[in-house]
Amino acid sequence: MGRASFPDGFHWGTATASYQIEGAWDHDGKGESIWDRFTHTPGRIRSGDTGDVACDSYHRGDEDIALMREMNLNSYRFSLAWPRILPAGSGEVNSKAIDHYRRFVDALLEAGIRPLPTLYHWDLPQALEDRGGWPERDTAGRFADYADACMRALGDRVDQWSIFNEPAIFTLMGYLVGIHAPGRQDLDAFLRATHTVNLAQAEAFRAMKAARGDARIGTAFSMSPCEPGGDDEADAEAAERWHAFVNLWFLETALHGRYPDAFVEGVPFERMGVRDGDMDLVRAPLDFLGINLYTRTAVQHREGAGWGLDAAHVGPLGETGPRTHFGWEVWPDALYDMVMRITRDYDRPVIEITENGCSYADGPDARGRIEDRERIEFFRGYLAALARAIEEGADVRGYHAWTLLDNFEWAEGYEQRFGLAWVDFEYPERPRTLKESGRWYAEVAAENGFDT
Ligand code: FCB
Repeated sequence: MGRASFPDGFHWGTATASYQIEGAWDHDGKGESIWDRFTHTPGRIRSGDTGDVACDSYHRGDEDIALMREMNLNSYRFSLAWPRILPAGSGEVNSKAIDHYRRFVDALLEAGIRPLPTLYHWDLPQALEDRGGWPERDTAGRFADYADACMRALGDRVDQWSIFNEPAIFTLMGYLVGIHAPGRQDLDAFLRATHTVNLAQAEAFRAMKAARGDARIGTAFSMSPCEPGGDDEADAEAAERWHAFVNLWFLETALHGRYPDAFVEGVPFERMGVRDGDMDLVRAPLDFLGINLYTRTAVQHREGAGWGLDAAHVGPLGETGPRTHFGWEVWPDALYDMVMRITRDYDRPVIEITENGCSYADGPDARGRIEDRERIEFFRGYLAALARAIEEGADVRGYHAWTLLDNFEWAEGYEQRFGLAWVDFEYPERPRTLKESGRWYAEVAAENGFDT
């Protein structure tokens, strides 16, 4: 038997997002977000679910914090709702929202939990989407104003921040695939959105540093190691292009001021709306890199596929792992491989695992216990892989399980349960129950490791 152990001072936490848990969608002066509009449009979300109530965390923050304490956690990654703070996207700040988040952050600090807010976890104010949304360059400036407002409101008590959550996913799903808000399917809009988001990331970084120079600021990137899904040299090259696009498109820009080599015919600067001087503007020397990781990705070369990448994301590889309820492959080495690659390629940056987790449907048994053994196995595997990466030199400072509570899982509504605590969505006012995985995680956090 060995032991997976973690460095002293390691941060153990969970991650959530405003729209997925807060509910209170129109309370205290909150403006409409693109997710409010999207979920209120028939046919968009499985079973017609919405985040109108969700876990009602807007009103139940103390219960959320009690669960974190029960799990011995010392970090919490959550997101601020832009349309609460600036209901029209820009202009007047809503003081009720500021008071709310101040109270919540103070309660976290009181409980010995580091607040790690994310500025943007996908709930764009609808007013800004009405003016063009992320494909519109002007949105970058609005976002920097919002970032500045957040820092002014909370910078006296929050030391560490994440700018975006998964820029590669929300631009792709929202503007090209169309299964996330705002539900558009337009390649040019998508390409432009990626550039605006890169500008926004760096402008927000500068605005926040100007307001508080010693704040530590990063972004939570979606990442997945890309492996060739075939034996040809062309498959290996396609996997590298896919890696460049899905993992690095918002990272190479920030750290090196360039777009990576993802497109066969070169970066489509014109279609993306890139102007002279922009490659200096997108630079942001992030203080840490957040990694959200769930599984690995197999890629094959295929002409004309992948919007000019000549690469296609294919099904699982020969030797495949078990599947979660969502159908995602359980592959712990994905976390090791990705962390090691980023550690090598970016000269050992400070890393935080900002999300990692799995969906399983288990609910309470006759005694009210939730025996989610597969989730415990999932975390055992991924955390052991992470411990190995740290032992081999990766500078990983924290780990955030996705997620604290079962919650609104975007297009899937309440069907996919990722929580360490179970929520009764039929009777949302009932108390939440820690699953067995939550109890297991509590021990890991208390002991800063576990026997493997
Ligand atoms: C990530 C999202 C998060 C959650 C998990 C399952 O892509 O950041 O909000 O939906 O997937």
